[in-house]
Amino acid sequence: MLLLAGILHMDVGLLTPLLGGQAVGPPVTNVMFLKTHKTAGSSVLNVLFRFAETHNLSVALPVGSGFHLGYPWLFLARYVEGLGRPGLQQQFNIMCNHLRFNLPEVQKVMPNDTFYFTIIRNPVFQLESSFTYYAAYVPAFRHVKSLDAFLASPWTYYNRSAGLNNAYARNNMWFDLGFDNDAPPDDEAYVRARLADVEQRFQLVLIAEHFDESMVLLRHLLRWQLDDVVAFRLNSRSTRSVTGLTPEGRARAKRWCALDWRLYQHFNRTFWARAHAELGPRRLRSEVARLRARRGELTVRCLQDGAAKNKSQITDPRLRPFQSGQADILGYNLRPGLDNQTQQMCLRLVMPELQYVARLYALQFPDKSPKRIPFLE
Ligand SMILES: *[C@@H]1O[C@H](CO)[C@@H](O)[C@H](O)[C@H]1NC(C)=O
Ligand SMILES: *[C@@H]1O[C@H](CO)[C@@H](O)[C@H](O)[C@H]1NC(C)=O
Ligand SMILES: *[C@@H]1O[C@H](CO)[C@@H](O)[C@H](O)[C@H]1NC(C)=O
Ligand SMILES: *[C@@H]1O[C@H](CO)[C@@H](O)[C@H](O)[C@H]1NC(C)=O
Ligand SMILES: *[C@@H]1O[C@H](CO)[C@@H](O)[C@H](O)[C@H]1NC(C)=O
Ligand SMILES: *[C@@H]1O[C@H](CO)[C@@H](O)[C@H](O)[C@H]1NC(C)=O
Repeated sequence: MLLLAGILHMDVGLLTPLLGGQAVGPPVTNVMFLKTHKTAGSSVLNVLFRFAETHNLSVALPVGSGFHLGYPWLFLARYVEGLGRPGLQQQFNIMCNHLRFNLPEVQKVMPNDTFYFTIIRNPVFQLESSFTYYAAYVPAFRHVKSLDAFLASPWTYYNRSAGLNNAYARNNMWFDLGFDNDAPPDDEAYVRARLADVEQRFQLVLIAEHFDESMVLLRHLLRWQLDDVVAFRLNSRSTRSVTGLTPEGRARAKRWCALDWRLYQHFNRTFWARAHAELGPRRLRSEVARLRARRGELTVRCLQDGAAKNKSQITDPRLRPFQSGQADILGYNLRPGLDNQTQQMCLRLVMPELQYVARLYALQFPDKSPKRIPFLE
């Protein structure tokens, strides 16, 4: 019996690719990614920008000198460059810069067959990252020395009337989805209705803690090539700037960000159910192994010392990431002596977010003044 079960299991594994496991049809090219904050979204952005650039797709880029789509205000179509001007296109293939989700306005920019997805992260770590990154910028964080101190007495520092920038301090992912981050989390009907909204609109919700599985599932649903979804970690912090919370602080963070916690619990469950339904555990594992092997090859091929570098070590200013708050944001040096074609490919993989936005903007709007990146001047 065990042998038979083993054989059947193997057969299912072998047959899956032929029976719709490997999705057929052309790659999906209309994609909207809601980039939530401090959730590994920069690496996803790099995947989307590279796909757009190498497939000559249009990107809904921020208007004028901006680098995000109106955040923290609710998104409006007029935050997109080139929209509504006579002679210019009315819709775009890819949309992925930071915005606060607002479906009717997004639909003015994206075609009606767009694939929507987003990414979320354990809210305890999301909040910790947010604190390090935005400490000086968020009113609620400005006058407190540590996140543990903040969580011990959040209402001392957090004033819900103090403006939208406080959204970084509480249920930030819930806010990015367009919802009220101060809503009462014990209103079960409200919470369930919002989770259902997300499920209905987003074909996929990725989990930052399971980034490689997320990329495998994304690639499967979009019918993209393996290399399209291979990414290096971008916008990550050096270990020096990651501070742990006490166990008590973690428990408090879950309660303080209870809406995000519900969101995360729900979609962490549906993610695994989906991954197993679409691919099955065996194929998921083997695809993740392929992805990691390919990233390993590209690491050796593209990166100097095969490792991330801090800002003083990055020699080419175009490859220096924007720095914020108390965090050292890491980037990469390219390996010297690459041939032209390899260098272009590697450059796209390591290009920091702001530089990539500026590059696509210059390509897409050659007649407009290029976006300036102040820290490079
Ligand atoms: C890219 O797209 C633009 C406009 O959509 C078109 O004019 C151009 O020829 C395309 N280039 C390539 C290489 O396909
Ligand atoms: C989607 O948009 C296209 C053209 O913009 C239109 O022809 C089509 O009817 C729309 N489909 C749906 C389901 O709304
Ligand atoms: C919260 O902010 C509002 C608006 O800035 C202000 O009027 C109010 O006094 C503040 N409340 C506290 C407790 O600081
Ligand atoms: C997310 O789901 C995985 C797989 O079921 C589970 O092992 C993990 O504990 C979950 N994470 C959280 C924070 O609930
Ligand atoms: C960057 O890394 C080098 C080598 O690890 C280290 O000596 C230097 O202090 C670091 N600089 C910063 C700003 O962290
Ligand atoms: C490499 O590319 C640059 C810019 O695209 C070009 O100017 C240069 O001639 C190329 N070099 C070689 C060896 O192909």
